[in-house]
Amino acid sequence: MSYAIIGFGNIGQALAKAFARSGIEVSVATTRDPESFASAAAAIGPEIMPKTLAQAVKADIIFLAVRYESHRDVAKALPNWKGKIIIDVTNAYGVSPEELGGQPSSRVVAQAFTGGKLVRGFNHLAAAVLDQDPAVHGGRRVVFLASDDDGAATEIGALAENLGFSPIKLGGLSEGGLLVQARGNSWGQLIFKDLVKFDG
Ligand SMILES: NC(=O)c1ccc[n+]([C@@H]2O[C@H](COP(=O)([O-])OP(=O)(O)OC[C@H]3O[C@@H](n4cnc5c(N)ncnc54)[C@H](OP(=O)(O)O)[C@@H]3O)[C@@H](O)[C@H]2O)c1
Repeated sequence: MSYAIIGFGNIGQALAKAFARSGIEVSVATTRDPESFASAAAAIGPEIMPKTLAQAVKADIIFLAVRYESHRDVAKALPNWKGKIIIDVTNAYGVSPEELGGQPSSRVVAQAFTGGKLVRGFNHLAAAVLDQDPAVHGGRRVVFLASDDDGAATEIGALAENLGFSPIKLGGLSEGGLLVQARGNSWGQLIFKDLVKFDG
């Protein structure tokens, strides 16, 4: 399985740190020449591989860590996303419900990535929290996952565990997934709730 993070800002770098901490290789890409962020990637760890967007989207599992407004530009990188899972980390805060056709923003993103499977996740925490080691007081920091494809959510749940997090599946995008969506100028109830799960 190969991984990529599209977007290497606050959230992209926080995710990259989780990969480095777990010793899992991941490609990272922006609109820029990979040389321009090679030193920032190297500072996180040797697991972080700067790539062009065209190279990075060859991965099987792709984190979308760009602003919501940029998702269509990323989607244009491939005519079809069949066989891939896109993890939507974007928060469409401030985007009007009318602009989204009344749908959760992840549904709109899913439509842009034709043929791909979409899992919403890793988006409910501020980057400064997601950035930190998810092992907290003997427990693991929770990430929420929502998808209309339960198999894809399970697969990303396994990845979340490998990255040190404790995944909680919320169900479909228009069901439990609404708890981790922004709608206009309001946040879903679970956004910014930094929870830790203890086993036993
Ligand atoms: N910041 C947070 O605390 C937080 C928390 C949860 C979720 N989120 C969500 O995560 C997403 C990213 O937020 P952020 O704070 O990390 O934003 P950011 O710091 O502005 O980073 C955005 C990144 O996306 C890249 N980018 C922009 N357009 C692109 C394109 N067409 N193709 C490839 N890369 C592109 C930018 O690089 P170049 O412009 O240099 O190409 C930059 O590396 C947003 O949707 C936000 O709502 C943020």
